Amino acid sequence: MNTTMKRHLSSEILPSGLPPVASPDDEAPVVAANGRRIGEVILDLQNISLSFGGVKALTDISFDVREHEIRAIIGPNGAGKSSMINVINGVYHPQKGRILYRGQPRAGMHPSAIARQGIARTFQNIALFKGMTVLDNIMTGRNTKMRSGLFSNALWWGAARNEEIEHRRKVEEVIDFLEIQHIRKTPVGRLPYGLQKRVELARALAAEPHMLLLDEPMAGMNVEEKQDMCRFILDVNDQFGTTIVLIEHDMGVVMDISDRVVVLDYGKKIGDGTPDEVMSNPEVIKAYLGTSH
Ligand SMILES: Nc1ncnc2c1ncn2[C@@H]1O[C@H](COP(=O)(O)OP(=O)(O)O)[C@@H](O)[C@H]1O
Ligand SMILES: [Mg+2]
Repeated sequence: MNTTMKRHLSSEILPSGLPPVASPDDEAPVVAANGRRIGEVILDLQNISLSFGGVKALTDISFDVREHEIRAIIGPNGAGKSSMINVINGVYHPQKGRILYRGQPRAGMHPSAIARQGIARTFQNIALFKGMTVLDNIMTGRNTKMRSGLFSNALWWGAARNEEIEHRRKVEEVIDFLEIQHIRKTPVGRLPYGLQKRVELARALAAEPHMLLLDEPMAGMNVEEKQDMCRFILDVNDQFGTTIVLIEHDMGVVMDISDRVVVLDYGKKIGDGTPDEVMSNPEVIKAYLGTSH
């Protein structure tokens, strides 16, 4: 079991997997075995419960996310992974529990306010404007950063123009970073799926987030596309220090790129730790082997 679940794609995805965080339970900052610095806890989810009518999507879930880490959320379909991301970025408000972001309790905050705090996301089902170009889609990622509205545009066209130039510059930077210069003028709807996923990542990066929530960024991709996406996620994490919360089904990818993993099943947390720890956790193994969904 373990061998099939563990690293079955490792050699294809990344030649050398990243070793896990040294001591994830300590409150003090820790250094990953590969020398990467993992910081303090910046997002603390405490006893989160969320239901839709009679459906319990999340039951009493607690876990935290440390600065600069890649934190994976895994679990079978319907486990509550997307609901968790929607709780983190304020689309859903849990009936129970507490969320602390950088030590501050966060209750009833609107998604746009959370975006302004520096949390950006991508969606399980691509949410881009299909008829618009790649460039224009990525530009929408700058919305939270735009200060000049219509009124100030009319009054202070000079300032608004400078702001526009700055937004364009940032967007071009992201386009270069993700190597999508060749498709910048292409309508998103004409692109293959793998590239659309990359454009969605670009839009999220255009917001210059401190924390990036990625809901199955590699679903439906072939091996090369996954390899590229893994590389971009690691580069974002390395070069910008962005903290990443990643929902992913491919265990090889999870083992290779995440520092710590939280495992959900039927809305409950059944595992939490380094990739090696969770993959050898009997409850996790049972959830993956015994599942019919
Ligand atoms: N907006 C919603 N309304 C009703 N039920 C929902 C809603 N979102 C999620 N659920 C339910 O919550 C459970 C967890 O779903 P989800 O978070 O999408 O799981 P995962 O992403 O792990 O596949 C499922 O039973 C799903 O049907
Ligand atoms: Mg989901």
